[in-house]
Amino acid sequence: MFQPDGPTFWELLDQSLCNLEDGYDKLAPKFDATPFRTPDVILEAVSNHLGGEQSVDSTLDMCCGTGAAMYWNRRLARHRNVGLDGSQGMLDQAAKHCANAPGIAPNECVKGDALAPPFHEEFDLVTCFGAFGHFLPREEKELVAGVKQCLKPGGRFAYVTHPEISKFDVKALPYRLFNAAMLVRNAVIDPPFVMYYLGFTTETSTALLEAEGFTVDVQTGILPAPFSRLHMVVATKGDAQ
Ligand SMILES: C[S@@+](CC[C@H](N)C(=O)[O-])C[C@H]1O[C@@H](n2cnc3c(N)ncnc32)[C@H](O)[C@@H]1O
Repeated sequence: MFQPDGPTFWELLDQSLCNLEDGYDKLAPKFDATPFRTPDVILEAVSNHLGGEQSVDSTLDMCCGTGAAMYWNRRLARHRNVGLDGSQGMLDQAAKHCANAPGIAPNECVKGDALAPPFHEEFDLVTCFGAFGHFLPREEKELVAGVKQCLKPGGRFAYVTHPEISKFDVKALPYRLFNAAMLVRNAVIDPPFVMYYLGFTTETSTALLEAEGFTVDVQTGILPAPFSRLHMVVATKGDAQ
């Protein structure tokens, strides 16, 4: 799971006791060697599905981290390839990682909050990967509204998630145990570190997007093994053309 150049147990423990921003600032140099970074096989499959080289003017990756998806988005963009994240440490890594990514659009790494993004109808494509666990269920509506605010009319929001998981599915047990440990951690330690698995499912996210007027397309069977059970969702702002 963790590569040899990844963080030690003590570094992870130290990071988990911080708030989100400080935690990611500390983890940033070693983040790519953790299982929390979205694998390139997922990002490549999504990127190929979304279009060809320079097929859109502008792309935004929300919660871009070290630039995993920004790297692939650059291939798609003609004029702007933006990553938004709350951690400057992660953004610094993203700038390095994407400097030589295939494509022509200038990269912009912007520090900001995904729940209050500093963009207004500027992007043809918004993506978000591996970050939904950082939003509480009550914040998901705000997150979707933020994405809508960033997109041009007819723009697309693409992400990967999973269908609702039964309470009795043993495969989800490690995630439920992690969530329980996080609840305890956040009850006794301030500042909180919000990271809960199994949220923003296909069903809940689709309902939120449709309520905001998106047309939602759920694709199954797009992602390679061992990720083939995951869904790729592409939601178009307003009616799909
Ligand atoms: C698990 S990492 C995922 C990074 C990258 N998207 C990937 O898939 O590899 C989550 C990232 O979300 C960022 N993040 C969490 N909450 C955020 C918020 N409200 N606004 C902006 N960034 C946020 C963190 O700083 C971190 O870089």
